[in-house]
Amino acid sequence: MHLTLKVWRQDGPGSSGQMVTYQLDGVSPDMSFLEMLDMLNEQLTTSGEEPVAFEHDCREGICGSCGLMIDGQAHGPQLGTATCQLHMRKFRDGDVIEIEPWRASAFPVLRDLVVDRSAFDRIIEAGGYISAPTGSAPDANLILIPKDVADTVFDAAACIGCGACVAACPNSAAQLFTAAKLAHLNLLPQGQPERWRRTEAMVETMEDFFGSCTNHGECEKACPKSISIDFIALLNRDYLKSKRINRRLAAQT
Ligand code: SF4
Ligand code: FES
Repeated sequence: MHLTLKVWRQDGPGSSGQMVTYQLDGVSPDMSFLEMLDMLNEQLTTSGEEPVAFEHDCREGICGSCGLMIDGQAHGPQLGTATCQLHMRKFRDGDVIEIEPWRASAFPVLRDLVVDRSAFDRIIEAGGYISAPTGSAPDANLILIPKDVADTVFDAAACIGCGACVAACPNSAAQLFTAAKLAHLNLLPQGQPERWRRTEAMVETMEDFFGSCTNHGECEKACPKSISIDFIALLNRDYLKSKRINRRLAAQT
């Protein structure tokens, strides 16, 4: 395949960037999108140019680091698929492909296609954990969890923290990410002791960095793990309850 690539190039956080056009020949339909970018970088390095900076780690759809806007779609044209698992067979010979970093003020561009997603880390630091001492590994099934609860929790825990939901949202809201992280702790017995403190802290930290959710639903479509927007309803319910319960607990101390 022959491709024309229009790639966002930016030297650093303070620099202005621009789209730069490259021609790439000999792309195999069996290559992943990141392998195609590797090929571009080999071509650039051989001709003495700076390679395109892009983030990746597992290349298996697990780590969440590889997000790119491809032709204006977060993670490209294949639903439920991270950029690293997108294959070039989804494109045609002669295509022009635009490749950009996530566009959201909470995710500033560090270089080329790499953005700083540490605003997500601030949300997790605010409460995305349980602080109960765990000791040694307990026996399996010591705490019984109904199958439907376990299934829902697994669905939420599939979130890989990629940021596509934010990039796809017209408001740059992070509700889907925060809702997934809250649900996988708030629905389990181990997550109950800190449920209300966690919910209030994570939602309010999220609001410090990201826009508000107005139910566009673009996040669910862009999510490579198909996290359901229903988790946002759970976040909203738990947040309302947390305001009441945390106030009552504060009054008792
Ligand atoms: S909810 Fe989906 S799109 Fe958002 S960070 Fe998690 S995996 Fe990525
Ligand atoms: S490189 Fe890890 S999810 Fe894509």
